[in-house]
Parts: sequence; C-alpha cells; structure tokens
Amino acid sequence: MQLIDALQWRYAAKQYVADKPVSSSDIDDIKKAIQLAPSSFGLQLFEVMDVRDKPLREKLRAQAYGQSQVTDAAHFFVFCHRSTFTREDVAAYAKRKADAQGVAVETLQSMEEDIFNALQKKSPEAQLQWMARQVYIALGHAIVACALKQIDASPMEGFDNQSFDRLLGLDKKGLRSVVVLAIGYRSDDDETQHTAKVRKTLTDLFTTV
Ligand SMILES: Cc1cc2nc3c(=O)[nH]c(=O)nc-3n(C[C@H](O)[C@H](O)[C@H](O)COP(=O)(O)O)c2cc1C
Repeated sequence: MQLIDALQWRYAAKQYVADKPVSSSDIDDIKKAIQLAPSSFGLQLFEVMDVRDKPLREKLRAQAYGQSQVTDAAHFFVFCHRSTFTREDVAAYAKRKADAQGVAVETLQSMEEDIFNALQKKSPEAQLQWMARQVYIALGHAIVACALKQIDASPMEGFDNQSFDRLLGLDKKGLRSVVVLAIGYRSDDDETQHTAKVRKTLTDLFTTV
C-alpha cells in the first residue's frame, strides 16, 4: 500500500478482533521500524515492553479506563524512557557506535564528553521531557509501519502511568511508561472506522515564509 493511502486507511482502532494474531514476521518488522527511529544524538534512551502476559494485560486495562484495546489487540507495546539520564547512557552509546563503525571506543571520548556536557545543562525535568519526546518519534514509526501493512494500531496515553510502572516493574529497570500502542486487527463492530478523518487543511497546517 502506498504511504498516503495507508495513512488514510489507518485510524486509532477502538475495538479489536480479540486474539486475531499478527504474524511474527510483521511484528519483527514493526520492531525494526521502532529500532530505526532517529533519536537525539542517537542515544535511544527508551525501551519498549512487549506485554504478552494476558492476566497482566487485564490488570493494565483496569488502569487504562477499561479500554478494551489493552486486552483485545494481538500485541500491546508500552513505550518507556529512562527515569534518569546518566553518563553510562552516553558510554553505552559510544560502545555501540564503536562496535558498529569499527573504531576504538577511546577515539570517541571527546564526543562522549561533549554529549554528556550538553545534556547535563538541562534540568532533570527537562531531561525527562527531552527523553519522552524521543519516544514519540519511535511511536510514529510504529504507527506508520503498521499502516503500510494494513495492521491496526492504537496509540494511547489514557492510562495511569504510575500504576503501569508498578505493574510492569519499571522502577527496578530504571524506566517510566509514557505512551502505549495496541496492535492487531480492527473489529467489524468498531463504528469509528466509518467516521471521516478530522484534520486541519494543509493551508491551516503550513505557513510558507
Ligand atoms: C499520543 C496519543 C494518545 C492517544 N490516547 C488515546 C487514548 O487513550 N484512547 C483512545 O481511544 N485514543 C487515543 N488516541 C487516539 C487519538 O484520539 C486519534 O489518533 C485522533 O483522534 C486522530 O484520529 P485517528 O488516529 O483515528 O485518525 C491517542 C493518540 C495519540 C497520538
């Protein structure tokens, strides 16, 4: 499917065909699309929980205003960012870069220093906001990847972050939930699919200067 047709086709599904599976190769491609999302400095200070445990998803649903997408979609991804930004995060990036590009990690020391110093200038709250913004780029990649495959996807912020963090044990992993994505196949009963898209016109959206 062509990109714009796919984006017209997609919508944030409200009802899924419970347990209709998405193939593992499609899920792998969606994960790769998330992996390939750009991030500030390339640091990728986020992780995604692929929640498959059904009883756990029931508990999460209770903390997401009962939204059925949480339990009924084939897959449920919880996008998280690091709860604190540390020097180790930059060192880990330098190691990945050294490995990928075949250079000695020692040659990247000044880059490591520059990145860390630049980000240390942000307040802890600004660092959290900055990390959360990276997550949404990855979320966008996943949504578009799903649309191109005619797989439904529902981004959701309507959940209690602290409860999700507790239920998923994110504190122990140094992570915080920020947004979730249900992935699966729309139900024929979902009336939302028949409603027209509501979007600003291109004229309202863009200003040429
Ligand atoms: C960050 C974000 C959070 C959202 N949270 C919810 C949600 O909790 N529940 C829900 O039903 N839809 C949620 N939506 C879906 C939006 O309402 C929907 O994308 C928007 O109305 C545009 O409609 P469309 O995506 O169907 O074209 C969310 C979308 C985004 C991008």
